[in-house]
Amino acid sequence: MRYLQISFIIFYVLISSILISSATHYVDGKRSISKTEEDDIEIERQLRVLNKKPVKTIITKVGDIMDCVDIYMQPAFDNPLLKDHKIQMNPNSVPGETTNKTISSSSIFRTVPIRRTTRADLVDAKHFLKKTRPIHANDMGGDYLYAEEVIQDKRYLGGATSMSIHNLTVDLDQTSTSQIWIMNGPPEEVYSVEVGIMKSPMIFGDSHSRLFGSWSHSRLFGSWTSYNGAQRIGCFNMMCPGFIQISSAVSFGHEFTQSSIYGQISYDVYLMVSRSQSTGNWWLSMGSSAETSEPVGYWPSELFTQFKISASSVKYGGYAVALSQESTPPLGNGYLPQLDDYKMTAFMSKMQFVNETGGLVDLNPHSMQTKRGPLPQCYDIKIAGQLGEGWFTTMVYWGPGGMVCALS
Ligand SMILES: *[C@@H]1O[C@H](CO)[C@@H](O)[C@H](O)[C@H]1NC(C)=O
Ligand SMILES: *[C@@H]1O[C@H](CO)[C@@H](O)[C@H](O)[C@H]1NC(C)=O
Ligand SMILES: *[C@@H]1O[C@H](CO)[C@@H](O)[C@H](O)[C@H]1NC(C)=O
Repeated sequence: MRYLQISFIIFYVLISSILISSATHYVDGKRSISKTEEDDIEIERQLRVLNKKPVKTIITKVGDIMDCVDIYMQPAFDNPLLKDHKIQMNPNSVPGETTNKTISSSSIFRTVPIRRTTRADLVDAKHFLKKTRPIHANDMGGDYLYAEEVIQDKRYLGGATSMSIHNLTVDLDQTSTSQIWIMNGPPEEVYSVEVGIMKSPMIFGDSHSRLFGSWSHSRLFGSWTSYNGAQRIGCFNMMCPGFIQISSAVSFGHEFTQSSIYGQISYDVYLMVSRSQSTGNWWLSMGSSAETSEPVGYWPSELFTQFKISASSVKYGGYAVALSQESTPPLGNGYLPQLDDYKMTAFMSKMQFVNETGGLVDLNPHSMQTKRGPLPQCYDIKIAGQLGEGWFTTMVYWGPGGMVCALS
């Protein structure tokens, strides 16, 4: 095992030294890649690992290229840690157990949709990770806002919430998220799984609201898209082999096509991350509500160390990043949060955690704390409390951003 891990790290260092000093330039509002220091052969090799030969290719209504690949041939299986991994088909099943012949025989030819990774996606994601600060347990930059329970030694097996969806445009070098973080480990060695809605031309090529997921580790090894000399090691979506896609309907990059209209109607999406009791895999589920949410896929327990058993913290919030340092993006619906009319604010409702026996429990607003930005006129966050039926534990957040926020 130790031997395997060492060779795994060396392999990663080799693979990941490819894109170090490349960056994307923007020409006429479109991204184009600087050819200077890239190793074309290596990038092509990485793309071949990530983009498996599809059984079928679909172009979605919004123009995304989705490759349907054999569920057993997806990129995760190129990760040496997952060499002997057995696929778990849903959060409650036991891998390898065939209780239902109909299901097991029909799953032989099952395919899953995976958004095709382009060369620009890879280069940009790397550049993005290099420029953004890692999230640490107790030292986080001003770009992050979140609420969390602060209870010593509490163990979490997941978190869930409904988050409102808004349609705002961010600039090409800006990224914003609404998300939950599931974290564990001491500050210098934090593991996290993150899921939520992201607007990021650098990660997705446009500024639409899309589903994202990532896993990261603050030390310098462990991920396909790591790079030298920086603290943050991370991987978005399917850009490195790790996440196992199960859903045939929803995958990372999924575009949320219904957005809230200020003062008129709110649309939201329910996201849950929970640890499977039978396998220790960390599952992502998504839907319009807790009752209708469906599993998307999971991060296998083999990817983690301390994180295998439980998380020490679940944070609910988001971050705003602008690489140019000139201006930060408007977030949420672009207005400061308020508690009078929820059709005029960005919110998270039904904020819950998963307890040690796998039950969903409402967060107690009285044991929650918020981490606000340095300038409350840029972004803010407020706990609304327990609002009862349909809402439960709720918070409101985000704001207009702008130039003054970048200078702070
Ligand atoms: C197997 O699954 C099929 C389809 O979901 C279902 O109709 C059938 O009752 C299941 N059989 C058993 C033995 O669980
Ligand atoms: C978002 O707004 C833009 C510009 O107003 C519009 O073209 C687009 O259709 C909207 N998208 C969604 C998902 O509502
Ligand atoms: C976990 O939550 C469920 C309700 O969702 C509850 O029935 C169960 O007792 C809780 N378990 C523990 C260990 O608190």
